[in-house]
Amino acid sequence: MKALKVVGIILLVLIAAVVGGGTYIKTALPNTGPALDIKIERSAQRIQRGEYLANHVSACMDCHSTRNYQLYAGPIAPGNFGGGGEKFDQQMGFPGAFYAPNITPYALGSWSDGEVFRAITTGVGKEGEALFPLMPWGHVGQMDKEDVYSIIAYMRSLPAVKKDNPVSKADFPVNFIINTLPHKAHFTTIPNESDTLKYGAYLVNAAACVDCHSQTDHGSIIIGTEFSGGMEFKQPSGIARSANITPDKTTGIGNWDKAMFVARFKAFENISSSSLKVPVGAVNTPMPWYVYSGMKTSDLEAIYAYLRSIHPIKHEVNRFEKI
Ligand code: HEC
Ligand code: HEC
Repeated sequence: MKALKVVGIILLVLIAAVVGGGTYIKTALPNTGPALDIKIERSAQRIQRGEYLANHVSACMDCHSTRNYQLYAGPIAPGNFGGGGEKFDQQMGFPGAFYAPNITPYALGSWSDGEVFRAITTGVGKEGEALFPLMPWGHVGQMDKEDVYSIIAYMRSLPAVKKDNPVSKADFPVNFIINTLPHKAHFTTIPNESDTLKYGAYLVNAAACVDCHSQTDHGSIIIGTEFSGGMEFKQPSGIARSANITPDKTTGIGNWDKAMFVARFKAFENISSSSLKVPVGAVNTPMPWYVYSGMKTSDLEAIYAYLRSIHPIKHEVNRFEKI
């Protein structure tokens, strides 16, 4: 009897801990502090820099517009620039249904600059809700503040797109875990372009290459798999897997030279995306080739230099598998 009572008490304590912990996670988190009281000047220089980053480096516009997956690499379809609505759900392997929100002034017009800044650098939305890290706020939060201001100035300059989208919903247990993810930003200073490795690392962070080129579990990168590829992108016709972009000679890009690397991206710069139809039944690539093809050659070269400097990992990836 006594033993039973002890077990009962332990159980009660455990239940209280779980309920208490759950309530804490749901009510007190996320908390990355109040939105800053800032007013971001929308200078022409910032808007231009922001346009470059949002369209060709950080791929903001790619996720927050409609993409046409009938075409190679899913270029942005005309007509909904920044209006959001792209769905990332369980069928694609995500722990819930997440929708890229509208980021044009139609939707963000009522947000203060500080609220937008907090959202994209710490993962906390206007109403204090956690943003699923598919939105690369962890990476934006490691950029130079000045670059983040430029991105915001550019977003503010977009023509308003009148479009309302469904609200994201995470599945259990990610609906709890998600609240523990947002954290304060760790801003950096943009390295000098002549410091190629550091500058390349800065761009690789800003482009969040690692988010696709690693393996993940419940939305978090599995430590030790960074840049070695293997993340799966499920499609009706089959599975695409991200490539190993570590300098391993047999399974990575160890045998690529700089010119080859740059050419692989620049191949998409001057061709009309509508000319590259994906054959029926073929597996398409989620690699945003069009986005990056607009990157400056010197920026791509810096990315190459950085990727050559990381630890090589032997990991064979079958990039395209039909079912
Ligand atoms: C890989 C796709 C992806 C990329 C790249 C991306 N976002 Fe997002 N973004 C999302 C998704 C999905 C959400 C919603 C997350 C959620 O609901 O939990 C989001 C949320 C947001 C929000 C919050 C809006 C709201 O109504 O809650 C803003 C602002 C935003 N993104 C701006 C940006 C900017 C600026 C960039 C580039 C620096 C960017 N996004 C890059 C997918 C993306
Ligand atoms: C949305 C996910 C996604 C993002 C973001 C992404 N990649 Fe990829 N990448 C892929 C996938 C999937 C493949 C494999 C399919 C293919 O080759 O097109 C790939 C292929 C590649 C290849 C070709 C490798 C080969 O063996 O042919 C290179 C190089 C590459 N990525 C580099 C990068 C770099 C550098 C970045 C960041 C600037 C980046 N990727 C960002 C998904 C992504």
